[in-house]
Amino acid sequence: MTGRIEHTVIIGGSSGIGLATARRLLGPSMKVTITGRNQEKLDSTCESLGGKADTAAFDASKPDQVRQFFERLGPFDHLVLAASGGRGLGPFATLDLADIASGVDEKVRPQLSCLQAALPTLDRSGSVTFVAAVSAQVAMPGVAGIGAINGMLLTVTPVLAVELKPLRVNVVAPGVIDTPWWDFMPAEQKQAVFADYAGRTPVGRIGKADDVASSIAFLVSNSFVTGQVLTCDGGLRFAA
Ligand SMILES: NC(=O)c1ccc[n+]([C@@H]2O[C@H](COP(=O)([O-])OP(=O)(O)OC[C@H]3O[C@@H](n4cnc5c(N)ncnc54)[C@H](OP(=O)(O)O)[C@@H]3O)[C@@H](O)[C@H]2O)c1
Repeated sequence: MTGRIEHTVIIGGSSGIGLATARRLLGPSMKVTITGRNQEKLDSTCESLGGKADTAAFDASKPDQVRQFFERLGPFDHLVLAASGGRGLGPFATLDLADIASGVDEKVRPQLSCLQAALPTLDRSGSVTFVAAVSAQVAMPGVAGIGAINGMLLTVTPVLAVELKPLRVNVVAPGVIDTPWWDFMPAEQKQAVFADYAGRTPVGRIGKADDVASSIAFLVSNSFVTGQVLTCDGGLRFAA
């Protein structure tokens, strides 16, 4: 980071990993803008951040809304792409292959479209951090679909680090993290799934949003790291 006040935009900053990242980055030398689709949720998130973040409500899967947001925003320094998508989980034999296309539309395209729209105003001495998932790196039954979706972000990262240089482009690959992403499951089932993953994870627990946020903060701040996948999974990748 430089001596001036920098500005980070977190797409998908109203919850989970994006919110924890905002909490970590906000400070005297870093301004943060968080985005999501729901202004009320953004308002209460902003309150939990002491009213210190800027907010913007738009749907990152809608290219017109994305373009308008970045045109209005003006110059900034760092882009964190944490908007979610949850498609593609389940055994391959019964996987609805349409979920792979939907997963790309809900996660990969929004992240790429935000980066593309940001290029005219994103400072080339700054950084981009994609949020993918360890599902792209493990031979774990049931993640072929979701792993294929997230794998696209792992693939583009080193290419863009070279093509967009000197802009730094990195990606974090979280393991199982306790965030509202898992709220599609009934509470009891979620607890059982978390306990199972905690037992299989070398560090003996599942992750917190702040575990991933600290990895993202590292990638934002270290000006000598680019083109990297930073896996933040408690070692699950090696034990799944
Ligand atoms: N939690 C995990 O175990 C885990 C593991 C591996 C990877 N990840 C990845 O980590 C990233 C963050 O997930 P999370 O766990 O923090 O989930 P989360 O708590 O559900 O947060 C997702 C954030 O993205 C926003 N969002 C979703 N779709 C959007 C869209 N189309 N346009 C704008 N904003 C959108 C959500 O706000 P609104 O819904 O209000 O728009 C929210 O702020 C995701 O890419 C997820 O796939 C999570």
